[in-house]
Amino acid sequence: MLTSSKEMILKARAEKYAVGCFNTSDLEITKAIIAAAEAQESPVIVATSPKAIDYASLQTLSGIVKSEAKKAEVPVALHLDHGLTLSIVEECLNNGYTSIMFDGSGSELEHNEILTRQAVEMAHAKNVSCEGELGHLGKVGKTQGQLTDPNDVIEYIQKTGVDFLAISIGSQHGIGDNEELDIPLLKKINSMTKIPLVLHGASGVPETDIKKAIKNGIAKINIDTDIRHTFAKSIKKVLEKNAQENDPREILTKVMFDLQKMIEEKIKLFGSNGKV
Ligand code: 13P
Repeated sequence: MLTSSKEMILKARAEKYAVGCFNTSDLEITKAIIAAAEAQESPVIVATSPKAIDYASLQTLSGIVKSEAKKAEVPVALHLDHGLTLSIVEECLNNGYTSIMFDGSGSELEHNEILTRQAVEMAHAKNVSCEGELGHLGKVGKTQGQLTDPNDVIEYIQKTGVDFLAISIGSQHGIGDNEELDIPLLKKINSMTKIPLVLHGASGVPETDIKKAIKNGIAKINIDTDIRHTFAKSIKKVLEKNAQENDPREILTKVMFDLQKMIEEKIKLFGSNGKV
């Protein structure tokens, strides 16, 4: 069923597990995410980034996720990942998104707070929850991140009214050489607020750190790069076995199987299996 992300994340925070938020850009990845959640009896968040929306179009991509979610036996939220403008927030809300992230972390704190506040108001007017980002996540090999400053946390939450807070504690988007998390920083932030915390850039983070993060307030975990790696590796494997294969349905059925298995392992690591 298509549901809000709010209840699933609040429950995760209270019971000390995390809900996986997995990025999609097409039918096959969406089906694999939902099949994995069903197999593990887990709630799940299906995320679409602005780049994925540009690739597939908002109507098509949200249509795929909504129709697959409606058929699902587990709660599925349709999430905007890293919305950078208020106009994309508005478009997603008008297209039935049940969860929003506004990312103002590329701006100065004050500007981030003002824009995020507006996104939160727009989302709440439609009864949809909104996540914001404080500090900034870097992208492996491309941009530098900035750890979240704990001194900004309380003011940011009060001024913006965000439902969930994405923090920068050592992970990066992509898979880096060293993505160990700053657990003391996480503990400090967690001691300051009760709202669920979000870990972005989780591909490449050691499993032991993921577990420690969940114990210390992380209740939503975002995975994208691992999905893309599995997708590409799986296609290569299929074509290496049979170079003559030219039926996309044959190729992509195997890709979906590999994706589902990988995502099921993540769901078990996050502890949301059996939590429906
Ligand atoms: P990774 O690409 O490192 O998995 O990060 C995904 C993410 O944070 C999406 O918002």
